[in-house]
Amino acid sequence: MALGTQLAELAIDIAREAGELARRRRSEGVEIAATKSALADIVTEADREVEDLIRSRLSVERPDDGFLGEESGAERGTGDVTWVVDPIDGTVNYAYGIPSYAVSIAAVIGEPTPAEWEAVAAVVFNPASGELYRATRGEGAWLGENTRLVVNSETSPAGALLATGFGYDPATHAGDLARVARVMPLARDLRRAGAASLDLAFVAAGRLDGYFERGLQPWDHAAGALLVTEAGGIVGGAGEGGTASSTLTVASGAPLFDRLLEAALDG
Ligand code: IPD
Ligand code: CA
Repeated sequence: MALGTQLAELAIDIAREAGELARRRRSEGVEIAATKSALADIVTEADREVEDLIRSRLSVERPDDGFLGEESGAERGTGDVTWVVDPIDGTVNYAYGIPSYAVSIAAVIGEPTPAEWEAVAAVVFNPASGELYRATRGEGAWLGENTRLVVNSETSPAGALLATGFGYDPATHAGDLARVARVMPLARDLRRAGAASLDLAFVAAGRLDGYFERGLQPWDHAAGALLVTEAGGIVGGAGEGGTASSTLTVASGAPLFDRLLEAALDG
């Protein structure tokens, strides 16, 4: 079996187990364990427990691989593969009981930094809805068993259905809102659903026409970006060589991409 397929199968298995743990903990009641970069940037005990589960499963199954996770940090492996993991993307939704959060797992090859890695397998699983999105490099992106994902490449005179997100640090809000103002002439409407991995999965599924956000961390976009590119879309931003980065991440079908990127870039 090809490496990407093997890694995707393992990621699906672990994401389902991790998602079930997150869902169970949510139903038992969630407590905020700490705040991180800003008061609004929270972590729950479940985020940590779910990442521990994913990390320990991977270390048993693939002991030579590296790991880069939101809650427990980075460790280089001795081989080429690194797992990039957000145990619960959409933690604020999770804490408030909004059923829009996801386990996001990507396997990447190369230096463990987005401008230099190549993602080979990705899973985004929303345990509240049961929707599991997966992609393997060169083999397409899928929702569940059988639904092949294709980005929307039609443009409408009414404009594009776009999504974005905002940073936790209040000092970044004015810049984020100015970006929204620049992008709105392209939009028929704008969503802020609260989980970047699901926003990217929705672009892959054609449920959104495009997505843009400043301030993403590698684990927020690693898996979702492969879903979009395997669904025929483009992911880029303001990183080295136009790659997705914390300065800017943009995703859409080809006809919209350049206009969306230009509008979203800091003026
Ligand atoms: C956040 C979500 C949110 C995005 C933030 C991310 P987290 O991830 O993806 O939609 O706007 O930039 O930090 O903190 O819930 O894992
Ligand atoms: Ca998270």
